[in-house]
Amino acid sequence: MALSRPCAKQRQPAGLDLEEIGDAMRMDQINLLDLDAFAARGFPHEAFATLRREAPVYRHPEPEGPGFWMISKYTDVVSVSKHPLVFSSMQGINLQVIAPEELPMIQTMMLGMDPPRHSKYRRLVSGGFTPRTISRLEPHIRGIARRIVEGIARKGECEFVKEVAAELPLQVIAEFLGVPEEERDRIYQLSNRLIGFDDPEFQTSPEDGKVAATEMWLYANRLGTARRANPRDDIVSLLVNAEVEGEKLSEMEFNNFFLLLAVAGNETTRNLISGGMLAMLEHPRELRRLRGDPRLLPTAVEEMLRWVTPVAHFRRTATTDTEIRGQRIAAGDRVVLFYPSANRDEDVFRDAECFDIGRTPNDHLSFGIGEHFCLGSQLARLEIRIMFEELLRQLPEIELAGPVRRLRSNFINGIKSMPVRFSLE
Ligand code: HEM
Repeated sequence: MALSRPCAKQRQPAGLDLEEIGDAMRMDQINLLDLDAFAARGFPHEAFATLRREAPVYRHPEPEGPGFWMISKYTDVVSVSKHPLVFSSMQGINLQVIAPEELPMIQTMMLGMDPPRHSKYRRLVSGGFTPRTISRLEPHIRGIARRIVEGIARKGECEFVKEVAAELPLQVIAEFLGVPEEERDRIYQLSNRLIGFDDPEFQTSPEDGKVAATEMWLYANRLGTARRANPRDDIVSLLVNAEVEGEKLSEMEFNNFFLLLAVAGNETTRNLISGGMLAMLEHPRELRRLRGDPRLLPTAVEEMLRWVTPVAHFRRTATTDTEIRGQRIAAGDRVVLFYPSANRDEDVFRDAECFDIGRTPNDHLSFGIGEHFCLGSQLARLEIRIMFEELLRQLPEIELAGPVRRLRSNFINGIKSMPVRFSLE
């Protein structure tokens, strides 16, 4: 299937080669385990266009193991996410099989819990993430974003990921958690090593992810001890005193809560800001449209979320024999939800292959849906909007200044580095 031509023409040389994306991929060419391909070309949208059309519930083979189900249609991602007791999160959250001895670690994290336990843990922190609480942070977030952009504006060029996109979520989540300023870089490094588990640049050995997790727990523990003695107005102080059914959180539960919040709020928002900027640079007409009418920013933010979809997948495991779209799924099968594919589903989005900053409606699934719907969605939206307001206000001209390097991962649609240059007039 050829992708919609008028829309594809929006792309500039910085994007993919049109010939490269023009033709559909054959089923036998689909290989989700080829991580080098993710590093080279990003998420394989062509493969998923084929899957949605020919095999929306597709069993992907794997060299050692029974394979996993790939869910590529929007309504199926919604339906699986909304049935957490049939499609459980407790056996692992990525497509990889988890060794039994590692399961307790996953299951002490909200992402790896099912109801009713999940709701009890989520309630502990959800008060800190309501739209009202989050909107109160706006002046503070704006101050940070303004300083970040002012810091680079004078230089004329910068490495966008590290100097712009990574900085804001890091500062904001660190503040939320109560991590002192001088220790924030450490959280950044640890979170890179944790999430970049398939990218050799971030992990020097396969064991390094586990080492990074342990270092993060040790750090959490130290901070927890300090806050127990001297509570402050931050999430760590809240968590060290929190109780579920009359019991304080165990050390493991507390440590994992910290780890989840530190990582979930960091990488995702960073990759959205970099990926969103790249989408804007690849679609200069849309960028001009936004500069011409800044009131479009809220819909532009939603379209960047749909287009980039920073989280490529989460996984569920069937707890019983069941069916999806008439396809039999056996108890114990892994069912992997591909959000970027759901977000380009042509049955839901008109001109799904078109980057349209004015798109409405835009009910994308970038934050998931149902039981585990992203806790930080309001915070992320606020950070993204403010960051783009500052970028557009302070940098009237901006362009790519070198190659974009992507993360070697089929889990996070990430950009490792993206040099940009800009002028102030
Ligand atoms: C653009 C930014 C973000 C994206 C794309 C994103 C994406 C997601 C997705 C897809 C899920 C659903 C997982 C599932 O269904 O299994 C999720 C859950 C979660 N997100 Fe985000 N997220 C973002 C920002 C944040 C931020 C800023 C925080 C702040 C702490 C955060 C914290 C969480 C947490 C704690 C969960 C687990 C919720 C649960 O298990 O109930 N996220 N996120």
